[in-house]
Amino acid sequence: MGPLLKVENLKTVFMSERGKVKAVDGISFEIEKGQTLALVGESGCGKSVTCLSILRLLMSSGRIEKGKILFQGKNILSLCNRELRQVRGGQIGMVFQEPMTSLNPLMTLGQQIREILLCHNKISKKEADTRVVELLRDVRFPKPDKSINLYPHQISGGMRQRVMIAIAVACKPLLLIADEPTTALDVTIQAEILDLIQYLKESYGMAVLFVTHNLGIVRQTADKVVVMYAGKAVEEANTDDLFEKAIHPYTRHLIESVPDLHRNYGDFLPSIPGKVPDALHRPEGCPFCLRCDEEEPVCRELMPDFYEYKTDHRVACWGAIHGK
Ligand SMILES: Nc1ncnc2c1ncn2[C@@H]1O[C@H](COP(=O)(O)OP(=O)(O)OP(=O)(O)O)[C@@H](O)[C@H]1O
Ligand SMILES: [Mg+2]
Repeated sequence: MGPLLKVENLKTVFMSERGKVKAVDGISFEIEKGQTLALVGESGCGKSVTCLSILRLLMSSGRIEKGKILFQGKNILSLCNRELRQVRGGQIGMVFQEPMTSLNPLMTLGQQIREILLCHNKISKKEADTRVVELLRDVRFPKPDKSINLYPHQISGGMRQRVMIAIAVACKPLLLIADEPTTALDVTIQAEILDLIQYLKESYGMAVLFVTHNLGIVRQTADKVVVMYAGKAVEEANTDDLFEKAIHPYTRHLIESVPDLHRNYGDFLPSIPGKVPDALHRPEGCPFCLRCDEEEPVCRELMPDFYEYKTDHRVACWGAIHGK
């Protein structure tokens, strides 16, 4: 059996007044059943656009130009609208960063969770309500049977994110896409939400595509990692391998930029010098070459393909290819 999700050479662009923005520029990765894959990289590198492309939720200015998105062997890009609706919220659940804007302020929590259950399953309202209470219990809501009558404004941001997670997993999806699900929350609440996603992943047997720019979270939660830079994947490895021996200079910089509680930085935290190239004016070759201190002449001219550094550890870097 093939992987649960296989993204193959995905290219997504936006048409803007200033020209064509190559938001995702030929990314490929696979997620096995039950596996957690973390997609990491600085702001603007194309993580959210990758997630939105998988579910075909791009705004009208966005277009998938190329590639395949195989979910259980079927290309999502060739599904009709009816099939697509079954996949979204059914076999693939999703949670995003902003829990307030995604909930309807005029409906109770119970009504909103019930809606997705009735939309995807042939069950009665009564059966749906039993499942709603069960779901609220699963996402560790205090007093689940009473909470169904609350409105979004009556609960905290962390609790709203729990409701969003309940909606995302309501139909027991095979894959949960979580795009920075904790970024808008307090640090202590973040830890609770991460713990909850981990618990649900195990009890529901889901795979998770986890987007974050926090490498500390990656280390705690992910089985494997894809590092993105300027719309491209530059390194892919099992989490332990990546933290033990990152090859791409960008990944190494990212790992060095993680604040280490046991190290004294004085007044300064390491950060990566330079800026991500503007999405409209990316260099021909490796997009990181402008910030890389190991740059070679070829780096400016040609983006290297993934090079298999060792089993399950790939990197797109001329330095690695030339055996540094
Ligand atoms: N609707 C849009 N129209 C035009 N360009 C867009 C649009 N949405 C995203 N982009 C561009 O696509 C690129 C990738 O954006 P994306 O939101 O995927 O980044 P990200 O990695 O999720 O960043 P962050 O960590 O800040 O969430 C960026 O250059 C962004 O400006
Ligand atoms: Mg994003």
